[in-house]
Amino acid sequence: MSKLSRITARLRSTSGQAPAQESAVEEPTTQAQADRERRRGMNLTELALDFGTDKAGDHHYTQHYQRHLEHLRGEAFTLLEIGIGGYKNRKNGGQSLRMWKWFFPKAQIVGLDIEDKSWVEAGRIKVYQGSQDDEAVLERIVAEQGPIKVVIDDGSHRPEHIRETFRILFPLLADDGIYCIEDTQTSYWPEFGGSADRQDPTTTMALVKDLIDGLHFEEFVDEDYTPKYTDQHITGISCYHNLVVIQKGDNVEGTNKHWVLKERYGGAPTVGPHAPGGAQADL
Ligand SMILES: C[S@@+](CC[C@H](N)C(=O)[O-])C[C@H]1O[C@@H](n2cnc3c(N)ncnc32)[C@H](O)[C@@H]1O
Repeated sequence: MSKLSRITARLRSTSGQAPAQESAVEEPTTQAQADRERRRGMNLTELALDFGTDKAGDHHYTQHYQRHLEHLRGEAFTLLEIGIGGYKNRKNGGQSLRMWKWFFPKAQIVGLDIEDKSWVEAGRIKVYQGSQDDEAVLERIVAEQGPIKVVIDDGSHRPEHIRETFRILFPLLADDGIYCIEDTQTSYWPEFGGSADRQDPTTTMALVKDLIDGLHFEEFVDEDYTPKYTDQHITGISCYHNLVVIQKGDNVEGTNKHWVLKERYGGAPTVGPHAPGGAQADL
């Protein structure tokens, strides 16, 4: 019995009236309200377990998402998750979208799945059907939803799809966006289109390793190297077991290579902390 009902019953008994039957109107503790009460104060791992997504429990992703995404909790932005869940099962799916909706109370939550998951739509949750490597679908989502700030790729987990989705979506991401790829273990699994050869250039982790190189493009000594879009727009890459989190931003910190590699460059930079008289004279 709720506090309101208890007070009403006490008032009725002290006034000589019989306690009224509890009705749905008088009883404020509906299932939805009870759920809201229970979830208040939960961290993302607890929310994942409560909503039934395998991002916690089977996997250990939520502890990392909590750190990387916590600062967005009060913001209005758009999150796109590829892979709504449940595969062909029409009654299953949407667990993680609901978790994100709760965790980000002002965000628009968008899901994309190759199967029809339209029934998952509710309130701030919008659903699209299509394959994650379909450029037209991805462009339509961005055109309709505006710049996306957070992407979670939890779709087919096939490296060729992951790479193609990243190629299309990363440039369309908001300037300070965050791009996450889950279940990167398939990179090492031929059964999923990955490869047992860790030098194979077509896998998910080959893409990630290339991006890590590109993050340091200002240090390259090739005279004729032309920076790629990803070189110039990735400021951080965090790799965890089976999860990669990529931070978008302007990668323009500069280099001390002209100062340190004197024999190669024969001179010194004119600006920056490593310039002569700058804060850092050494490496
Ligand atoms: C692992 S489940 C997603 C689980 C969900 N994100 C969660 O955490 O609760 C993967 C989903 O990706 C979908 N999927 C598979 N291939 C896809 C593709 N090429 N494009 C989009 N979605 C795909 C499947 O139908 C399935 O529902």
